[in-house]
This record gives sequence, structure tokens and C-alpha cells, in this order.
Amino acid sequence: MAFMKKYLLPILGVFLAYHYYSANEEFRPEMLQGKKVIVTGASKGIGEAMAYQLAKMGAHLVVTARSKETLKKVVSHCLELGAASAHYIAGTMENMTFAEQFVAKAGKLMGGLDMLILNHITNTSLTLFSDDIHLVRRSMEVNFLSYVVLSAAALPMLKQSNGSIVVVSSKAGKMANPLIAPYSASKFALDGFFSSIRKEYSVTNVNVSITLCILGLINTDTAMKAVDGILNMDASPKEECALEIIKGAALRQDEVYYDNSIWTALLLGNPGRKILESITLRYYNVDKLIKN
Ligand SMILES: NC(=O)c1ccc[n+]([C@@H]2O[C@H](COP(=O)([O-])OP(=O)(O)OC[C@H]3O[C@@H](n4cnc5c(N)ncnc54)[C@H](OP(=O)(O)O)[C@@H]3O)[C@@H](O)[C@H]2O)c1
Ligand SMILES: *[C@@H]1O[C@H](CO)[C@@H](O)[C@H](O)[C@H]1NC(C)=O
Ligand SMILES: *[C@@H]1O[C@H](CO)[C@@H](O)[C@H](O)[C@H]1NC(C)=O
Ligand SMILES: *[C@@H]1O[C@H](CO)[C@@H](O)[C@H](O)[C@H]1NC(C)=O
Ligand SMILES: *[C@@H]1O[C@H](CO)[C@@H](O)[C@H](O)[C@H]1NC(C)=O
Repeated sequence: MAFMKKYLLPILGVFLAYHYYSANEEFRPEMLQGKKVIVTGASKGIGEAMAYQLAKMGAHLVVTARSKETLKKVVSHCLELGAASAHYIAGTMENMTFAEQFVAKAGKLMGGLDMLILNHITNTSLTLFSDDIHLVRRSMEVNFLSYVVLSAAALPMLKQSNGSIVVVSSKAGKMANPLIAPYSASKFALDGFFSSIRKEYSVTNVNVSITLCILGLINTDTAMKAVDGILNMDASPKEECALEIIKGAALRQDEVYYDNSIWTALLLGNPGRKILESITLRYYNVDKLIKN
């Protein structure tokens, strides 16, 4: 028995970890056809690129960000590209009431929800941290807390559709870098929260997938401006990035890694964590957690 506990379970864990990464189904663009999708932070950058990819696949879309004028243009381009329908609702994710009401309105516009893509972030510049508590609070609220509010509001609809939550994160949500401490804290928080509720969904048989996306540097205007003169690193194209996120989400993968180095997924994938997680889960009295 000791042998089983010491060696067999870890080996099983490695096997499971391997299984995690080998998608057993292939992506087809038709998987998104007619699907009802929300994209946040969709007025520019990766969010805008995801909206266009989804439009080409024939999805229904509701996009959001703060700037109305930009969203209008995104919506009309989505319709040109073939979206089944496209609407925008403008507002700031600093306001949790807006976040909650936004999901309800979007659900009404589309008559349900299949995929919630959480992508927006508050503006940040690369600086040494000294005492900007306001930025820490704004980062935690906009980059993290609003994601929790949005997903909680969307869960009833996602349960009905066997839907998906897609959380756009960063390498900075898995490893440490200088100059982005508040941003990094908010991205680590997303991993802690959404990876935990993924475990809860799995033990309580909630069939809503959660895909955490770990991105390297992407060539969006915002990122290029922010790193200019500070970080010498190649950036990957936002269009391909957007497509990889959508593929991973459609295949209901736990994590998507998109970076210009093939080593990133291997080195940040952390099999040790997955083994410990699957072993630890065995000590929980899961039966008591399942309602009815
Ligand atoms: N680009 C990269 O190198 C990179 C790397 C790793 C991870 N990521 C992640 O990828 C995602 C998208 O990044 P990106 O580079 O595409 O950013 P981006 O181009 O700056 O887009 C950010 C989006 O969020 C919206 N937004 C900003 N403040 C908001 C607020 N208070 N309330 C609601 N919406 C707000 C912006 O529109 P408005 O200003 O109109 O509100 C915009 O649509 C983020 O989660 C980011 O962390 C990016
Ligand atoms: C927050 O959003 C709600 C709903 O959109 C709105 O009624 C309220 O005035 C907003 N609060 C602030 C402080 O802007
Ligand atoms: C970000 O936007 C806020 C307003 O939402 C502004 O007060 C702040 O100066 C901006 N910060 C940066 C770093 O651009
Ligand atoms: C959700 O999945 C269950 C099986 O887990 C299936 O019975 C049900 O029909 C599915 N619902 C939808 C809307 O796809
Ligand atoms: C969960 O939903 C997906 C998408 O509808 C479906 O393919 C899958 O079979 C469901 N899984 C379970 C365990 O019901």
C-alpha cells in the first residue's frame, strides 16, 4: 500500500497531466457557428481580433469595452465578416453593477450564452512599484474581480448550454517579472480563482469548461507602446493569438499557451502542481459537496 501511495499515484498524475495536454478532438471552425459569445475588451487588440475570428466562424457576438465609437466600428466589421449577429454594450468594468447587468443584457440580446471570453484589462505602464496603491486596487478590481462578477452572472446560462468560460491571462500570471507587480498579482489571482472553481465544477458535475490562456508578448498597439525601450523581446501576432485562444476554448482545454517559444508550455505547465492537485483532491469528502 505504501508503495502504491508513494509511487503509483504520482505516476498516475503524470499520466493525467499528459492526458490534459493531448487534445483528443480536432478543431473545426464550424464548432463556433451559431454559438452565442461575449468578448470583453473587444474594442482593440486581442479582443478585437477574437471578435473578427468569431465573426468569420459565424458566431453571435456581444462585445464590450468603454469606448462606444470604437465598438460601433468593431460591430459593423463583424457583420461584414459574417457574424450571425453582433451588438455592443459600452461601459467600464470598474463598475461591478455594470458588469453584472451587462451579462444579463447580452444574454437577452442573444437568447442565451455559450462562451464568455474575459479579456479586458485596465491601463498599466511598466514601472517600478513604489506606492501606487490605487493601481493595485484598480488592477485587482478590473482585471480580477470583474471577471468573477461576470462569470458568476453568466453561470446559469452557461450551465444550460454546457458552455465555456475563457480567461485571458499572461505568462505574468504564472511567473515573476519586474515592472508589472499589480498586473501580475491580478493575473495570478485569476489562476487561483478559476483553477479552483474548475475543480469544483469537476467534482459537482457542472459541465462548464474553463480555459485559462497564458500569453507571451503579443503585438497589440497597447503592449508595443508599453514595452517600447524597456523590453527587448519579439512579439507574436495578435490574429494568430486570437485563433489559438478560440481553438483551445472550443476544445474545452484547461489551459492554452501561446508564445513565441515552444518551451513556455513545457516549463510553465508545472506537472508537479497537477500531480499534487490530483492527489490532494482525494482527501476531500467530495460526496458531501454535491447537492441533491
Ligand atoms: N498584448 C500582450 O502582449 C499581452 C500579453 C499577455 C497577456 N495579454 C492579455 O491579453 C488581453 C488583451 O490585451 P491587449 O494587449 O489586447 O489589450 P488592449 O489592446 O489594450 O485592449 C484592452 C481592452 O480592454 C478595454 N478596457 C480598458 N479598460 C477598461 C475598463 N476599465 N473597462 C472595460 N474595458 C476596458 C479596452 O477598451 P477601452 O479602452 O475602450 O475600454 C480594450 O478593448 C489582456 O487580458 C492582457 O492581459 C496581452
Ligand atoms: C454603474 O453602472 C450602473 C449600471 O450600468 C449604473 O446605473 C451606475 O450609475 C454606475 N455607477 C457609476 C458610479 O457610474
Ligand atoms: C489609466 O486610466 C486612468 C483613468 O481610468 C487614469 O487616471 C490613469 O492616469 C491612466 N494610467 C495610465 C498608466 O495610463
Ligand atoms: C449538455 O450535456 C448533457 C450531457 O452531459 C446533455 O445531456 C445535454 O443535452 C447537453 N445540453 C446541451 C444544451 O448541449
Ligand atoms: C459537456 O458538454 C460538452 C459540450 O456540449 C459535451 O461535448 C460533453 O459530452 C459534456 N460532458 C459531459 C461529461 O456531459
